[in-house]
Amino acid sequence: MITVVGSINMDLVVSTRVFPKQGETVLGDLYTTVPGGKGANQAVAAARLGSEVQMLGAVGNDAFGDELLAGLEAGNVQLQAVERKDGASGIANILLSEGDNRIIVVPGANHKVTVEEIEVHKHLLANSSVVIMQLELPIPVVQKALEICYEHEVPTILNPAPASGFNSELLKYCTYLTPNETEAEEIFGGNWQQALEQYPNRLVVTLGEKGAQFYDGEKHVVITGFPTKAVDTTGAGDTFNGALGAAIAENMPFAEAVRFANAAASLSVEKFGAQGGMPVRDAVMERMAGGSR
Ligand code: RIB
Ligand code: NA
Repeated sequence: MITVVGSINMDLVVSTRVFPKQGETVLGDLYTTVPGGKGANQAVAAARLGSEVQMLGAVGNDAFGDELLAGLEAGNVQLQAVERKDGASGIANILLSEGDNRIIVVPGANHKVTVEEIEVHKHLLANSSVVIMQLELPIPVVQKALEICYEHEVPTILNPAPASGFNSELLKYCTYLTPNETEAEEIFGGNWQQALEQYPNRLVVTLGEKGAQFYDGEKHVVITGFPTKAVDTTGAGDTFNGALGAAIAENMPFAEAVRFANAAASLSVEKFGAQGGMPVRDAVMERMAGGSR
């Protein structure tokens, strides 16, 4: 069982030809709401690949909350540890323009998850094959979950996004850390490549269309990206993390797991929405076979 301790948001997506400048009004092309949140996205990604997945988190008691829970259930994510909180669900205000995105997250119910709730669900964490986390829940909550997993020798993937909440204490307890380039720079500074050598087969930096990079104890390994026609890159990192979790839960060797996650992420960007385009296993296998990467 994979457990995702993380955020659940409704994504309010506006597509526009150009981003407005400060003080400017522009006409957009499309407005739509789609389920998102880094935690939920990672859970759905792993479930779509065939893993058994449960989530620990919260939604509000608003209409978005109903929709988000229904969506996760339809995506085969188990919800017994997802609470309903008074007030609004988390939302992400997403501006899309020419494949680029700008996101504002308002955490809502996600920030009402407590350390006590993690304690209550300790057994779910202790019995997981892997636990995946991000930084859209309160940091003490993430820290607590990491500590419980560490104590029970359950492997953890920490996707340090957004990186602003990161502290080095978290790094001590997680098994794998998966920043993107910007987050790696925020955490380790401009020469994050050196940090890779400090955390062999543990730290993997995702490079967008360029793939992903880690150090295997002897050499730097760059897993090349697949050429894709990107429609919407929102949630590509989440697909990577969900797929990495699925692979690690199956004891896939690390390099192969990263390759698998990279292929899954490359497929996810070909469709609109964070969860749109997340592939089933056969599609990932096909992509991996197609390019010798
Ligand atoms: O990683 C993409 C996600 O970040 C979006 O779905 C949005 O909800 C934000 O949490
Ligand atoms: Na997508």
